[in-house]
Amino acid sequence: MRPSGLEEKLSSAFRVGFDRRDTQRLLAFWEKILASERWTEGPFTEQFESAWQALHGLRSVATASWAGAALAALNYIDVRGETVLCPSNTFMATPLSVAYAGGKVEWVDCNRNDLCLSYEDFVRKAEASRPKAAWVVHIGGHIAFEIEKIADYCRERRIWLLEDCAHAHGAQWRGKRPGAWGDAGIYSFYATKTISTGEGGMLVTRHGAMAESAKGFRNYGKPAHAAPGLNFRMSEFTAALGVVQTQRLDEIAAGKRAYAEEVLDPQHPNRVLFPEGMISGYYKYIVFGKVEPSTGRVYDKPCHRIMGQAADLPNTDWVTANHSCVPIYYGKDHPAA
Ligand SMILES: Cc1ncc(COP(=O)(O)O)c(C=O)c1O
Repeated sequence: MRPSGLEEKLSSAFRVGFDRRDTQRLLAFWEKILASERWTEGPFTEQFESAWQALHGLRSVATASWAGAALAALNYIDVRGETVLCPSNTFMATPLSVAYAGGKVEWVDCNRNDLCLSYEDFVRKAEASRPKAAWVVHIGGHIAFEIEKIADYCRERRIWLLEDCAHAHGAQWRGKRPGAWGDAGIYSFYATKTISTGEGGMLVTRHGAMAESAKGFRNYGKPAHAAPGLNFRMSEFTAALGVVQTQRLDEIAAGKRAYAEEVLDPQHPNRVLFPEGMISGYYKYIVFGKVEPSTGRVYDKPCHRIMGQAADLPNTDWVTANHSCVPIYYGKDHPAA
């Protein structure tokens, strides 16, 4: 017997995280943009940023991609010639952003239980390499279990902490959303993400000066020409989609969570188990070992191996070989659509 009707409401085949009930509202926004003749740098970008800011309680700057926001933050910190700590169990975007910003990556191992940065290895690498900055990646949609200890350590040692929030839309813990522990958080709105604008990114930060710098960085430095960025502007059409999606975010994440807790958890006891009170955005549903049906692994190969670099990261190799993802997609077809 099925525990509820949730199976029908969530799809096992990939679906973009978009609620079809929002289609008419989105089309009305796009009509407005067409009529306004402002297709970029307009009110929808500001509205998307305000909505994201209200949700996170942090200054928010929209960009054309995750990379634009990441490079804006790294440029503000100025990591040229500096060491930046980085997990290897992540997407290549994370270490490549460091390389493009002129920094040197120092690899850090992950934990087996959360697939995210290991505090123990982080401290070891930080003591040895004296980094200027560090990346923590919230793998799979939950928050790195040791984020508080990592953030406290970085604050004491004056290490800039960047959170890669590409998977973490809708996650919450102890009254905070991803991006609130470090100096900045970088979101992706790529097509597969929990909510998407097709392409797009968002920088969140408590530092007003970093936010102002990012606004210049995304626009070839205009107007002050202090930040040597390129074109990472978001179009008004994308921003309007972002406005619609932000309002639906918590509902989409709650729908995935209900499906995970009611349908998947009883079937998969050997899964990532979250600490008390942590709410995952469920970008992925991660189990240890092999499972069918599966969408495969979060990442098939650690970044240091892709880049042909030697590093001793036993937990990273272990998690790569010992996990798989159960399909979990928001696929509601509402009658109002
Ligand atoms: C952990 C992580 N960081 C960064 C990115 C890059 O985001 P984008 O594809 O929007 O550039 C992704 C994937 O898309 C990711 O999974």
